[in-house]
Amino acid sequence: MKEKSIELKTEIPGPIGQKSMQKRKEYIPQGVYNLAPLVASKAEGAILEDLDGNKYLDFVGGIGVLNVGHNAPKVVEAIKKQAEELIHSCFHVAAYKPYIELAERLSKLSPGPTPKKTMFANSGAEAVENAIKIAKKYTGKSAIIAFDYAFHGRTLMTMSLTSKVKPYKFGFGPFAPEVYKAPYAYCYRCPFGLEYSDCNLKCVQNFAEIFKRDIPAEEVAAVILEPVQGEGGFISPPKEFIQGVKKVCEENDILLIADEVQTGFARTGTFFAVEDYEIEPDIITTAKSIAGGMPLSAVIGKKEIMDAPQPGEIGGTYGGNPVSCAAALAVLDIIEKDKLVERSNKLGKKMKVRLDEMKEKYSIIGDLRGKGFMLAVELVKDTETKEPAVEVKSEIIDECFKNGLILVGAGLHSNVIRFLAPISITEAQLEEGLDILEAAFAKFA
Ligand SMILES: Cc1ncc(COP(=O)(O)O)c(C=O)c1O
Repeated sequence: MKEKSIELKTEIPGPIGQKSMQKRKEYIPQGVYNLAPLVASKAEGAILEDLDGNKYLDFVGGIGVLNVGHNAPKVVEAIKKQAEELIHSCFHVAAYKPYIELAERLSKLSPGPTPKKTMFANSGAEAVENAIKIAKKYTGKSAIIAFDYAFHGRTLMTMSLTSKVKPYKFGFGPFAPEVYKAPYAYCYRCPFGLEYSDCNLKCVQNFAEIFKRDIPAEEVAAVILEPVQGEGGFISPPKEFIQGVKKVCEENDILLIADEVQTGFARTGTFFAVEDYEIEPDIITTAKSIAGGMPLSAVIGKKEIMDAPQPGEIGGTYGGNPVSCAAALAVLDIIEKDKLVERSNKLGKKMKVRLDEMKEKYSIIGDLRGKGFMLAVELVKDTETKEPAVEVKSEIIDECFKNGLILVGAGLHSNVIRFLAPISITEAQLEEGLDILEAAFAKFA
């Protein structure tokens, strides 16, 4: 018999977890949402344990944060060592080696021939905020173009760049000015109703027309895009779309910011997703899996651009904390030594075969898409009308959770299940999770 990772000992949540969740309800606002009634106590690799000792397989990885796995031993070791030496000095007050070494490594890892510089912040949204400030300073221009279905964060600027009204924008206006939106290449639901085979990249043409439609190119500082849209439902555009947008940016002296907060650090089968599109963005924002679960984000960009802000104009008290930077250096070592880029492709292919089989069997799966080990299924009531199957998606996620598999949804229509399991997951664990998923499809689809 195959050894299983999932161990469910009590009802879910168990008695200790239930007590804790009651306190959570009492003292923590509902706006800080929870995916499931789960109170974690410890974790290792792809396994998460709750307060009652139930063990789950984690196909969410803290929403794309744990590409190297929960509590990767080398990350834990680096954190302990750094905490004993220096927890905080504030980089603005006293610089320290982990920040400098990490900046060097990420600048060199970033794709393209132009020399780069890197600064650090604490969250994905903060990285995007800083990237926008840097782009404005460098270009002396104020407008930003983002895309439909995008997600860039929950702060004022990043919320303004984000697409989904509920829950991200509803009631939070007015938004930051000078933000414009263009259609993204969501081929499954082509915004122009065309088939990819004969669309002639209408989305790129339409994108270029924004300068006639909404805002002159002379006033646009930057275009920001996710190379594979994350919260939008793992929308994975054709290479020509990303290359087309980059070309339009170049022709009009507009910077291109690639938001790799969710796609970075080997998730899509290359270190950064843009590598596969063969473009060199002017700025990359990244966070999530950068530091194995420690709060950290980075803005990596062409030297001249990154040096546009004057001393004191960017940064912050905690940005690039020594412990987080030490954890990130360990993450880079793991990705290199354990060949996680290759592994992301290998696991992605394996998973795609299983999901393809499910797609054949269950017509509720309208689309299977993604890159590397960043895959998702979009559920529809009818493959012709493509009406989103929102309730069934929730039933499937709930059923999987009851059976010990943690999953998360995505998509503007909330009908996508996305998979962000640690890339360090074993093949047996991957199969175990997919068996549970398939059983849930069999029950509800
Ligand atoms: C592409 C992208 N950008 C920015 C963010 C915001 O990151 P954070 O939640 O760390 O602020 C996210 C978070 O999901 C994201 O996926």
